[in-house]
Amino acid sequence: MNDAGWTTSVGSQKRRSARGTDAPWYHARQLTDAERESFRLTTLAAQDAKRRAENGECVQPKHPVNVPRLDPLKLMPKKRGNGLRTLSLFSGGGGMDLGFDRAGYLHIASYEILSVAGDTLRRARPSWTVHSGSDGDVKQVDWRAYRGKVDVLHGGPPCQPFSQAGRRNGAADERDLIPELVRAVKLSEPPVFVCENVTGLATKRFSEYIQKNIYEPLSSTYEISMFTLEAADFGVPQKRRRVFFVGFRNKNAALSFHPPKPTYSAAHLDGGGTPAGLKPTMGTREALGLADIGIDGLAPTIRSGFTGPRHTTSVLNSVSAQRAWEALQIWPNGVALDRDRASQYVTKNGHFRLSVPDCLVLQGFPADWPVGQTVYAALGLIGNSVAPPMAYHLAASIQVALSKASS
Ligand SMILES: C[S@@+](CC[C@H](N)C(=O)[O-])C[C@H]1O[C@@H](n2cnc3c(N)ncnc32)[C@H](O)[C@@H]1O
Repeated sequence: MNDAGWTTSVGSQKRRSARGTDAPWYHARQLTDAERESFRLTTLAAQDAKRRAENGECVQPKHPVNVPRLDPLKLMPKKRGNGLRTLSLFSGGGGMDLGFDRAGYLHIASYEILSVAGDTLRRARPSWTVHSGSDGDVKQVDWRAYRGKVDVLHGGPPCQPFSQAGRRNGAADERDLIPELVRAVKLSEPPVFVCENVTGLATKRFSEYIQKNIYEPLSSTYEISMFTLEAADFGVPQKRRRVFFVGFRNKNAALSFHPPKPTYSAAHLDGGGTPAGLKPTMGTREALGLADIGIDGLAPTIRSGFTGPRHTTSVLNSVSAQRAWEALQIWPNGVALDRDRASQYVTKNGHFRLSVPDCLVLQGFPADWPVGQTVYAALGLIGNSVAPPMAYHLAASIQVALSKASS
């Protein structure tokens, strides 16, 4: 999607509930001629504005280049090496990998089918062993090779089969790779496994699925906890929940394990007070270093550029998210590759234009995490990831449980 956004179509939102795959651009064949023409004109106008901006024809940038106030690395101070080894499946752009790395774990290997994701991980940590492309396909790996060589196996299998934004076909969706994660756990026998996904998996619709595909094959060897975590509880300025399954082979470690407790609170952004002992999570505008406009709030969940229309450069995922971005005076479409370009490419309504480094910060990655030079792919990796500070606190909780069990 370009700068068209959700509101430009003529009447299409009255016809369909504009949510997830119901959005008009998913149904190109159902568009009326007037709608098609409206999209075409908006796209042409956006392309022209972008071309002019890139040619330096925008003499007076509407917003100065922003300097973020949030440094996500401060949400996850690097811990000393703890000797625990991790094996990462479905590594994506490395949200989980970075969180475990900052928590002091030793990275053994990552497996990820997308080359663009593998390239990101290699650029970020040249010393890591990263299998990507066909070498990274988890279906092709004999996991017995890792027996006795890893302490924590973690992975976030694709979420499309369970996501509220999709058809939610679970096991009937060929993208359901939770059984592959289970196969990897059974063959490599790590002391701990972590399986992460969207909270759609934790709904009643999938309770039988979870029982059959996670608990039945694994609960004879693992004590499994299931819980959800909210990224803003760990200082990330975005509404983003994830469900986790954490299994321990050792019963004492399982008994000592507790999901990480919040370290931050966003209650003040809704007019509440910050509970004692917690720090206030920055709002989106504060985190990005934007001017005070009298209101601030968490960013709506950032959508992955790999879902929805191909090559989208929008992070918008719903009508309510559009309202939230509007209130923040931030434009969530046509995300620019960097802050200079964002500043030059002035939005029509004067709202702040996001850039890839800004989206990284809103997701809890350092702004220079090397997600590459293609906006849609960068947004794909960012929007698919676990917020690294959330992974960091989970990793720390697992370490505490393992060390209590061995002392
Ligand atoms: C939800 S994302 C995981 C994000 C990651 N946990 C993070 O924190 O950044 C799921 C990933 O699984 C990858 N994937 C899909 N099929 C795969 C396969 N057969 N083998 C390896 N990776 C695969 C996708 O390319 C995608 O990057």
